Amino acid sequence: MDDLIFLGIESSCDDTAAAVVTGDRRILSSVVSSQTTLHADFGGVVPEIAARAHAERLDLAVEQALDQAGLALTDLSGIAVTAGPGLIGGVMSGVMCAKGLAAGSGLPLVGVNHLAGHALTPRLTDGIDFPYLMLLVSGGHCQFLRVDGPDNFTRMGGTIDDAPGEAFDKIARLLALPQPGGPAVQAEAASGDAKRISLPRPLLDRPGCDMSFSGLKTAALRQRDALIAEHGGLRQGDRRDLCAAFQTAVSDVLAEKSRRALAESPVPVLAVAGGVAANTQIRAALEQVAADAGARFLAPPLALCTDNGAMIAWAGIERFRQGHRDDMTLAARPRWPLDRKAQPMLGSGKKGAKA
Ligand code: KG4
Ligand code: ZN
Repeated sequence: MDDLIFLGIESSCDDTAAAVVTGDRRILSSVVSSQTTLHADFGGVVPEIAARAHAERLDLAVEQALDQAGLALTDLSGIAVTAGPGLIGGVMSGVMCAKGLAAGSGLPLVGVNHLAGHALTPRLTDGIDFPYLMLLVSGGHCQFLRVDGPDNFTRMGGTIDDAPGEAFDKIARLLALPQPGGPAVQAEAASGDAKRISLPRPLLDRPGCDMSFSGLKTAALRQRDALIAEHGGLRQGDRRDLCAAFQTAVSDVLAEKSRRALAESPVPVLAVAGGVAANTQIRAALEQVAADAGARFLAPPLALCTDNGAMIAWAGIERFRQGHRDDMTLAARPRWPLDRKAQPMLGSGKKGAKA
């Protein structure tokens, strides 16, 4: 079945993406149209604006993905689409687009869990076997997963409140930096002194792999206010030091919890995915943890860490190989936990309850 060719469509947050991927792990095209500028004035993703922009751009993204792959719809084996979790208007836009294409072409339709797209990415990039340990760390999610199959995930721990990406975005807003906050905070942190400002490392005193980032955010806000009170404003150096301190605190927490998760993992493989896995300091810290444990470390290239259509096409291929098919009843799901046996985590972020 290695001659499979899938179109993948992604529209669960603020990136409109389409890609064409083959069953033998070749990415023939990957188009990502970011909505960053549309949301810039609002300090975060506005769901209604996102949904409208997806509806307007999806056709074009699909057309470009096919063009760049040099293929027509009739050359494909199937269409995969993110069916959740995410901002419901955007997910619906993608699902409607995919249904239209499937109905018009007669191609099979496969609904994909966005988080499974991230979690299966190391199989696309590195062809690794199941099982493996995955740290999925993004704008709406943060969890350790044992991945045993395309639809077989066991959550080993996760955030009990905010996701790290959400915290990066909030810190950026507090410091008048642009969105998305992660890359902006990373750029400031590059020339900052992480040791000057002291921030907590939440939940490290508790056993297990659960994490918390909400208190860290509040602590950073207090430090910002203290610096403003002291100097009558936030100086450039203060901003850089605060970014460095925050990034280091997140990195320390993720590293220590990864160390514990690896100790519990049945195989010595640590893979990371999701937007926050694009952070250089965090990647380096996790790589060190893996090296210390004698484990293999896998981190996808940056463009495959953040949201993209290729991971959805690939997850679609994996599900298709398992015999999974959807039809016109495929529904958009705002919430869709990967591990259906696990209790929902506490807290609610921009993408709803932590799955
Ligand atoms: O996976 P993703 O593209 O979308 C979600 O599914 O959430 O992740 C987006 C998140 C944003 O919160 C963004 O600030 C964060 O990933 N991010 C980063 C970096 N690049 C993106 N966080 C820290 N450092 C980065 N370099
Ligand atoms: Zn994502």
